Amino acid sequence: MWNLLGEELVMVVQNYYDIITILFLSIGLTYLASRAWKRATNMREDIPGRLGLPLIGETFSFLSATNSTRGCYDFVRLRRLWHGRWFKTRLFGKIHIFIPNPEGARTIFANDFDLFNKGYVKSMADAVGKKSLLCVPVENHKRIRRLLSEPFSMTSLSAFITKFDKMLCGRLQKLEEKGKSFKVLDFSMKMTFDAMCDMLMSITEDSLLRQIEKDCTAVSDAMLSFPVMIPGTRYYKGIMGRKRLMETFRDIIVRRRTGEESPGDFLQSMLQRDSFPDSEKLDDSEIMDNLLTLIIAGQTTTAAAMMWSVKFLHDNRDAQDILRDEQLSLAKIKPEGASLNHEDINNMLYGLKVVKETLRMSNVLLWFPRVALNDCTIEGYEIKKGWHVNIDATCIHYDSDLFKDPLKFNPQRFDEMQKPYSFIPFGSGPRTCLGMNMAKVTMLVFLHRLTSCYTWTLDDLDTCLEKKAHIPRLRSGCPITLKSISKSITEA
Ligand code: HEM
Repeated sequence: MWNLLGEELVMVVQNYYDIITILFLSIGLTYLASRAWKRATNMREDIPGRLGLPLIGETFSFLSATNSTRGCYDFVRLRRLWHGRWFKTRLFGKIHIFIPNPEGARTIFANDFDLFNKGYVKSMADAVGKKSLLCVPVENHKRIRRLLSEPFSMTSLSAFITKFDKMLCGRLQKLEEKGKSFKVLDFSMKMTFDAMCDMLMSITEDSLLRQIEKDCTAVSDAMLSFPVMIPGTRYYKGIMGRKRLMETFRDIIVRRRTGEESPGDFLQSMLQRDSFPDSEKLDDSEIMDNLLTLIIAGQTTTAAAMMWSVKFLHDNRDAQDILRDEQLSLAKIKPEGASLNHEDINNMLYGLKVVKETLRMSNVLLWFPRVALNDCTIEGYEIKKGWHVNIDATCIHYDSDLFKDPLKFNPQRFDEMQKPYSFIPFGSGPRTCLGMNMAKVTMLVFLHRLTSCYTWTLDDLDTCLEKKAHIPRLRSGCPITLKSISKSITEA
């Protein structure tokens, strides 16, 4: 029987020899042509990675990393090990690509709003408000951003620098006098919150500040929650918090309009535009949604960066010593008790490098998410409409081709110019962080007072990260005990 089959096969091959040859030739040629086409158009092979089941994909692995003390970036780190620098995954039913290099980042930043946009998330728009910079479409974004920007320019921040410095000096001194350990994270969260509410709306009363802070935290927690109004859920709490916040902001605006109070703060500078044409002013809901946005976008980010600066300087005594020398020489030439000003900040050259190195290594915002609005290619890889592309700032900041010895805290590396789009802690393009200058001066004032007035001990060396957090923060909160430098000198 096998013989018969073999003979039949030989006959088939003889009869259809031409067709079979043409078939094989065509397959071969098509393969070669497609390779050549891909090379000519710089199109790459498919992006590697695992999509898993529709809807679920790798969501459970992501949630498990988020819920661990290694932090959610561990999910990304592992997939890079398995699949290479470019990889795809499916999270919450959506395909995600993590963009690992400055060239890819440039493509997205340069085409923000045209080819890519932030994904619309209902819970976010409900919580922070539809007129928030984070949610409005491009035409409104341009106008709102232009009108919000001025108070955050370096020159306008002079008053903030002095006020923040005074507030900080008093609070650090009290903590040192108590002589007890305190968590830098709790301290920096409160400091940044109080300073921002003062700068934005001149709110200084502690009970009101604490109520607003509680409500802002609820809103922030609701931004990525499941949008159902069931009492007890994060979404419900966030929406109720938002309601209270809007009432508070409205009351303040009414008092300003009736002339009961008119301090020189951010809100007042917005209300002074009341008689301007529509294109040159913000309406009340735009003002209120963006007051909330600024607080939420500014508090946790800056506070986490402050905490990491303490940790990195503790672990790197050389950098701490150089920083202290710079800050002490600045303090020496200032009159006793004088507050810092804009010029002092400009003279903190090493301080600024410490801030940058802290931001490079801490990656407060790990990646910046966008959605592709059309089919397109990034770095030769095909991206389909609707895919999520995440600019992976962490991967870029830890790339040894861009930053030599990337795991080492080395502020001096910023003596050299960075390659475009390789240092992006504040993003880039039309959505660059609005509070970038404010964050930098806040950190510089903090580092000045910390290193020129105190030394500190780190009271918990645990390096685990907080669970369920999207901003990496030490689980311990970075507890330290301060020791005044002047007291140490007297004792010696
Ligand atoms: C160390 C502190 C901070 C870091 C690392 C940081 C980082 C960032 C980044 C990376 C973006 C762009 C995100 C993207 O492209 O998707 C951004 C946007 C933004 N940030 Fe910051 N930020 C910080 C502090 C602040 C502060 C203090 C404020 C306000 C007072 C602020 C307000 C904003 C706002 C309003 C946006 C949205 C801008 C827009 O969409 O046009 N940030 N921030």
